[in-house]
Amino acid sequence: MTSSRPRISKAVIPAAGLGTRFLPATKATPKEMLPVVDKPAIQYVVEEAVTAGLPDVLMVTGRNKRPLEDHFDRNYELEEVLRSKGDVHKLDRVQESSDLATMHYVRQGDPKGLGHAILCAAPHVGDQPFAVLLGDDLIDPRDPLLTHMVRVQEERGGSVIALMEVEPASIHLYGCAAATPTHTPDVVQVSDLVEKPSPAEAPSNLAIIGRYVLDPGVFEVLRKTEPGRGGEIQITDALQAMAADPTLGGPVHGVVFRGRRYDTGDRGDYLRAIVRLACEREDLGPEFRAWLREYVAGEMAGPLED
Ligand code: G1P
Repeated sequence: MTSSRPRISKAVIPAAGLGTRFLPATKATPKEMLPVVDKPAIQYVVEEAVTAGLPDVLMVTGRNKRPLEDHFDRNYELEEVLRSKGDVHKLDRVQESSDLATMHYVRQGDPKGLGHAILCAAPHVGDQPFAVLLGDDLIDPRDPLLTHMVRVQEERGGSVIALMEVEPASIHLYGCAAATPTHTPDVVQVSDLVEKPSPAEAPSNLAIIGRYVLDPGVFEVLRKTEPGRGGEIQITDALQAMAADPTLGGPVHGVVFRGRRYDTGDRGDYLRAIVRLACEREDLGPEFRAWLREYVAGEMAGPLED
């Protein structure tokens, strides 16, 4: 059943957002470049696409995002300095990001929403299914969500979104999906989608997290999608149309993710991501964990202020 469809090879990463939650750090630096341990957050996302078999990456950028292009390009001067010092380890680290994927860039121009950003990818993507990865969502590299989603899309066609159960009180932060089970565990058929509903309006507690594998029919739907929540063109609204009429690029399936995900667009979650990933690093972990244990024990022993 899978053989007649072209293999998915392209990933689109919208990266035009302003990152106001991290001001002043993001005044002159794109939020995607903030380090998670010692790598910019965006590099984890590109690595995830490559690991899922998508070596062609298009970033949808905007003003002040040049550092993103520089990061995934060669830096001959720095490489030469490291080479002349014989610092092979650091040289490898520098070259890692430029050797990772075939990178392409397009500018969004007007910030008209996530759906509009995805539409900017249409000329590059052409007529084949493709993945979308949102930079604020960091999926732990040990939990291969996108690989699973690509497989589900190749088996079932249409479009596939990543879902995660959240507390009903926080559903208003996400797109929300009503879905019914299929015969495959953790794969659901999506029947209804709402962008950032109030808890009372929400059809479920299944939140869309920032991974999508989309049928190219989505572009035609996005062209006709009116601005929705926040006055922006929403991918959730386009997917709702596709779920309602599968001839437009559906059916829409969901993969319910139960692994580790960090919202690096949120300051608290960003800090948690750094602590967790640092603890698990072979080079930094042992010493950092020992310090953390001592630090937490000291905090617990001290007077509790709240
Ligand atoms: C976007 C989407 C939303 C989704 C979320 C996941 O919202 O519009 O449907 O649930 O990403 O992170 P944003 O967080 O960009 O406002």
